[in-house]
Amino acid sequence: MKIFTVANSKGGSGKTTTAFNLAHELVRLGKKVFMVDFDPQASLTNSFKIELPQSQIYIEDLVSKAGQGKLHIANAIVEPKENLFLIPATGALGNLESELKGPAGLVRLRETLKGLQGLGMDVVIIDPPGSSDVFMSMSLLAAHEVIIPARPTDTDISTLSEFVPFIEEHKALNTNLQIRGIILNQVQSSSKNGQFYLEKMKNLGLGDLVFPCSIRSAIDAANSVAYGQSSSEHKPKAPVSKDYQEFAKEVAKWL
Ligand SMILES: Nc1ncnc2c1ncn2[C@@H]1O[C@H](COP(=O)(O)OP(=O)(O)OP(=O)(O)O)[C@@H](O)[C@H]1O
Ligand SMILES: [Mg+2]
Repeated sequence: MKIFTVANSKGGSGKTTTAFNLAHELVRLGKKVFMVDFDPQASLTNSFKIELPQSQIYIEDLVSKAGQGKLHIANAIVEPKENLFLIPATGALGNLESELKGPAGLVRLRETLKGLQGLGMDVVIIDPPGSSDVFMSMSLLAAHEVIIPARPTDTDISTLSEFVPFIEEHKALNTNLQIRGIILNQVQSSSKNGQFYLEKMKNLGLGDLVFPCSIRSAIDAANSVAYGQSSSEHKPKAPVSKDYQEFAKEVAKWL
């Protein structure tokens, strides 16, 4: 069971949209996929457009000091679609920030995910917030691999030169952590901007990390989430759906 975090300290780089579509595509490839919403904005949870019962257990319940060791992750799992599982979050996760800051708190997501052993999941995908905060650190300590969605813009690319060393710092406490790759997201297909920024990344020494495929900028990618659907479910023939399919095939090579 491989654990990915789809992370970037730059807000709005496409983490949630990429994670949501990647998960759906991996299910289409026959995988059992487990998603963790680890952002107090709860965008991933909202993307599924599901109604949850009053009794629902959320990720904040599992990683809180009160819940740790007492609540089991198996009791918090929802299955919005066949073979696609989710631990949802609410804004209340944000209330735990100071409690989670210390060394014992920072490993609580990792400890929580150990409860998935034996449930037959092939891959876990964590969706952290877009900042270098405690939730981001916890996702980096829980993961085996980082997938970094980045837009081909000056600000996103320059943030990478800070975010990559930030990831590396977490190797002290998570020796297995690897950067699987940078996936260029919202690439303008009509222009050469993907190629232009690829060159910039090469100059920053990040060229080897860039996935050979990319995700184009497309209204279908944004709109499908409004229907609780992946791009492929909403618009199977859209070019951006093919981008997500190709990307998932690349990721599946590493499972
Ligand atoms: N390939 C794409 N084409 C067009 N729009 C996209 C694409 N990917 C993401 N978006 C849009 O960009 C915006 C930001 O995406 P998203 O919420 O996935 O980013 P994020 O990194 O998770 O943000 P945050 O840092 O707030 O968690 C959303 O409105 C989303 O619909
Ligand atoms: Mg997000």
